[in-house]
Amino acid sequence: MEFDFVNSKSHICLNRKRCFSILLLVNCILAFLYYTYVQNQSEGTKGNSNSAKGIRINFNPDRNSTKPSKPIEYIRTILENEYNYDDLVKFYSLNEKEFSLGLRCTRKPKRIETTTKVNYTGDTTIEDNSTTISSLPIAATSQVDSLSALPYYRYQRRSLFTFVIDHADACLNDSIDLLILIISKSDNYKTRDAIRRTWGSGENLGNYSSIRMKLFFLTDFDEKLSTNIRLEDNLFHDIIQVELPPQYTLVTYRVLSLFEWSFRFCRRAKFLFKTDDDIFINLILLLKFISSRLDKPTNNSFLIPDMTMYGYKHYRPGVFRQANDPVGARYVITLDEFPCSHYPDFLSGFGYVMPKKGRDAIIYAAYRNTDKPFRISDVYLTGILPDYLSIERQPLPNYNIRYQGSCENFFENPTSFACAVGLHHGDSTDVFDKFNRYWQYVKKSL
Ligand SMILES: *[C@@H]1O[C@H](CO)[C@@H](O)[C@H](O)[C@H]1NC(C)=O
Ligand SMILES: *[C@@H]1O[C@H](CO)[C@@H](O)[C@H](O)[C@H]1NC(C)=O
Ligand SMILES: *[C@@H]1O[C@H](CO)[C@@H](O)[C@H](O)[C@H]1NC(C)=O
Ligand SMILES: *[C@@H]1O[C@H](CO)[C@@H](O)[C@H](O)[C@H]1NC(C)=O
Ligand SMILES: *[C@@H]1O[C@H](CO)[C@@H](O)[C@H](O)[C@H]1NC(C)=O
Ligand SMILES: *[C@@H]1O[C@H](CO)[C@@H](O)[C@H](O)[C@H]1NC(C)=O
Repeated sequence: MEFDFVNSKSHICLNRKRCFSILLLVNCILAFLYYTYVQNQSEGTKGNSNSAKGIRINFNPDRNSTKPSKPIEYIRTILENEYNYDDLVKFYSLNEKEFSLGLRCTRKPKRIETTTKVNYTGDTTIEDNSTTISSLPIAATSQVDSLSALPYYRYQRRSLFTFVIDHADACLNDSIDLLILIISKSDNYKTRDAIRRTWGSGENLGNYSSIRMKLFFLTDFDEKLSTNIRLEDNLFHDIIQVELPPQYTLVTYRVLSLFEWSFRFCRRAKFLFKTDDDIFINLILLLKFISSRLDKPTNNSFLIPDMTMYGYKHYRPGVFRQANDPVGARYVITLDEFPCSHYPDFLSGFGYVMPKKGRDAIIYAAYRNTDKPFRISDVYLTGILPDYLSIERQPLPNYNIRYQGSCENFFENPTSFACAVGLHHGDSTDVFDKFNRYWQYVKKSL
């Protein structure tokens, strides 16, 4: 196009001034096209460009040509290979319907009544007799395409995450019961070490030894520490590194990438548990919970009741609109970001567990959904999204967490599940010592 333009220059470029204006115009158009392109490419960090300033990340969606370009199509293909097709069609339809109605708290009361009584099997577009089963995916896709015309479509993810260290074969050989993924900052190597040597060791688990578990740390991409991370991974083979910078504001994307990794590379693991590296987890309680559920027969159905998530449940907490201190300020949410006075029930990010089907449903909804991902990840992934789909969030029975103060005596109580280990920079006490003390208590209940 540019070259045609240059060739026809003799006709248009009659004088210098006019010629200059035309070149300026062409530049503007090119700049605009480039801007649009860059916007699309860096969708993953959109809205956080300020915080990501100064960090060069090479987002290269085509690095592996086998990597599909459109996440939602990739996800659908995998789901359709695995689950009952009729269930999936109903699920897709439920998803479209619920998201089109918007957040539950903003719906008119009358509408809430009809949606809570919604009969998942009663969708007219799906049961339309004129469409054959094989033409259904096309029907669903055309719905997708009509939505793409809407302006907010830009928040649908355009590419999958890039995992610099992906351990793509980590789950190939084994049938895994419990996949534990821990969000960890690159420089927290001491904490990772403490976890590996205590609750994450997978050793001496008594009656629970037969539960097959795998544990990985999901780290950010911090260029300065990249070599260390690689060395550490060469030793322990337990690090997944995602191409996201370490900034706090990207936390929803980070947890989304955790879901995505487990979907792509460890999708057959029966349960997924998510936690953070500064949390000490009473693994025994987690295994106790899992063990009672492992024998349940499973099949290829894809039904909402099989997707229930478990954790420490917050019941409709209020939304912070103002805070007096900088830490609280992180959680201040504007009306634009979230218009309702309360969040839907959600699970503490200290640790939540979900069956594979729940993970699959959430990642589908997150990548299909065209709203901007809400920046508090726990609220988004265990609150807002499951709320749309009516996926239940259940409290782990009698399990307690502590997020303030010392963990020192907390684990003497056998119902203590998770504690935030205040690991401040410059804290001279050894992380391993702390973790080991808690671990000795926890193991007593074996
Ligand atoms: C790229 O694709 C090949 C072929 O499927 C696969 O073996 C390889 O692990 C992939 N690499 C990455 C980084 O995803
Ligand atoms: C929901 O669908 C099922 C199966 O088609 C049907 O038996 C049932 O009567 C429906 N319920 C309502 C309230 O329409
Ligand atoms: C729906 O399709 C089936 C199979 O083609 C046909 O037997 C049935 O009569 C159709 N029902 C309606 C209501 O058109
Ligand atoms: C999987 O099994 C094959 C053959 O038994 C083996 O060569 C390979 O190293 C195993 N991979 C992993 C990740 O354990
Ligand atoms: C462990 O298993 C043994 C044998 O099945 C049983 O006697 C014991 O009570 C179990 N211990 C716990 C803590 O469940
Ligand atoms: C599959 O499991 C679901 C519950 O998870 C159950 O409702 C359904 O009947 C099962 N289907 C078959 C064919 O066993």
